[in-house]
Amino acid sequence: MRQFTHDLVERNIGLMLVLVILTISVGGLVEIVPLFFQKSTTQAVQGMQPYSALQLLGRDVYLREGCYGCHSQMIRPFRAETERYGHYSVAGESVYDHPFQWGSKRTGPDLARVGGRYSDNWHRDHLTDPRSVVPESNMPAYPWLLTAQVDASSAATKLRAMKMLGVPYTDAQIASAAQDVEGKKEMDALIAYLQVLGTSIKNKN
Ligand code: HEC
Repeated sequence: MRQFTHDLVERNIGLMLVLVILTISVGGLVEIVPLFFQKSTTQAVQGMQPYSALQLLGRDVYLREGCYGCHSQMIRPFRAETERYGHYSVAGESVYDHPFQWGSKRTGPDLARVGGRYSDNWHRDHLTDPRSVVPESNMPAYPWLLTAQVDASSAATKLRAMKMLGVPYTDAQIASAAQDVEGKKEMDALIAYLQVLGTSIKNKN
């Protein structure tokens, strides 16, 4: 009987296809579906605030400039990583990130916990001319961020879009978003974003 069914599946490619799809689907669902219901993957870590309007615009500068091409934001739970970067990343830190910036390419260091590691002035010097503070750096310079104005008129729309995706912005935050970022430069926004990265979990090293 066993021989017979095996034979049947091997000779009938249509049936084989259906069974393969069924097996992969069940396997996939069993792995993926529980993640939508687990608190550890769906709830923000305690005390984490959504990005301020300025930080959110800074994040968009980060995306536009392709910083993720060289920097991951995902500290893996290995000693070599936690010794260097601090507490490993947890899913609850990314629930307000759309899209998340975990990445895997590390030409430069991981940035998941870079918030508070350097002063704003250090970042300004570094982003304007990386070699001025890290002589051996091969990171590109981003001097135009010093003079480019953030687009304040887009701020409210961006917050509203994030709210649609589940980020708990209040109506007051959305209403004041444009005013909150008025007159700021893209450099200010990017630094504000970098300085908040990873700060919701205290560095336990
Ligand atoms: C071509 C690859 C590359 C790109 C693109 C890049 N970086 Fe870097 N980055 C590096 C390298 C290499 C270092 C390490 C040397 C240094 O500190 O300059 C670094 C270091 C850093 C550091 C210091 C991290 C630490 O822990 O010391 C920050 C912050 C940073 N980059 C932010 C950015 C931002 C923001 C952008 C986008 C505007 C960006 N980088 C784009 C390669 C890159």
